Amino acid sequence: MGRVEGKVVLITGAASGVGKENALLLAREGARVVLTDVNVAGVQAVAEEIGASALALQHDISSEDDWKNVLAATLKKFGRLDVLVNNAAILAFGTIEDTSLEAWQKMQRINADGYFLGCKYAVSAMKDRGGAIINMASLAAISGMPSFCAYSASKGAVTALTRSVAAHCKQRGYKVRCNSLHPDGILTPMVANLMAGVDPSTVGEIKGDPMARMCLPQDIANLVLFLASDESRFINGSELRIDNGQLALDV
Ligand SMILES: NC(=O)c1ccc[n+]([C@@H]2O[C@H](COP(=O)([O-])OP(=O)(O)OC[C@H]3O[C@@H](n4cnc5c(N)ncnc54)[C@H](O)[C@@H]3O)[C@@H](O)[C@H]2O)c1
Repeated sequence: MGRVEGKVVLITGAASGVGKENALLLAREGARVVLTDVNVAGVQAVAEEIGASALALQHDISSEDDWKNVLAATLKKFGRLDVLVNNAAILAFGTIEDTSLEAWQKMQRINADGYFLGCKYAVSAMKDRGGAIINMASLAAISGMPSFCAYSASKGAVTALTRSVAAHCKQRGYKVRCNSLHPDGILTPMVANLMAGVDPSTVGEIKGDPMARMCLPQDIANLVLFLASDESRFINGSELRIDNGQLALDV
């Protein structure tokens, strides 16, 4: 019996990095997984690796029509939704001085609007049976990261959205939990460009360095699995840092 046996889990951005790792782990633990991404070929490859319990769908999280289609396809195939992992996002460098309004708006459209739409449609699909929403935020939502102005703000929106959704569902008695995750660095394609030329095998966490700031996608997937499972039934409206003590060191 898996830790999320029989649950129907929708994971956005599942073609790559953390989303892919979530998909593989949750499927191994018995979940039926709906994997979505703008990268259709990538998400289909992950679904094929998993087999019959996976459904791959094209999905731009900033499109309300796409959310409607993805929810309809999920309910048609599996009959319900138990867990949403709002995971897809984009990252770009930019301080307050060199971020254009266009770049800011693109970041908010995907990273903030996309998560709002996900929560909105997931609550509506889950409110009768209960469920869990897991929002990927970032340490950037809590600490001041000068080089990631728009990204930090988008993750700040996700953090506040998470609290509001959790409070709303609690107040209405929906039994839908909503939590945000706040990683520091994760070794994924998202950060590979920022670390060009660095051999991943030399990065701290892999070598057991206590000062490491980079973790592996599996480290995040382990927490996602816990939050998706009923083991975490009393964790709701929380901001869970997964940063190897980085914020504790800074304050
Ligand atoms: N990698 C890190 O260091 C780090 C740190 C903190 C938080 N995070 C967060 O973790 C999550 C996963 O990041 P990752 O590192 O695995 O990134 P990644 O770039 O490896 O994967 C992100 C996936 O999202 C997809 N995507 C991008 N825009 C999309 C859109 N509009 N609609 C649907 N899919 C879209 C991409 O195609 C990709 O498959 C993100 O929310 C990210 O902000 C990452």
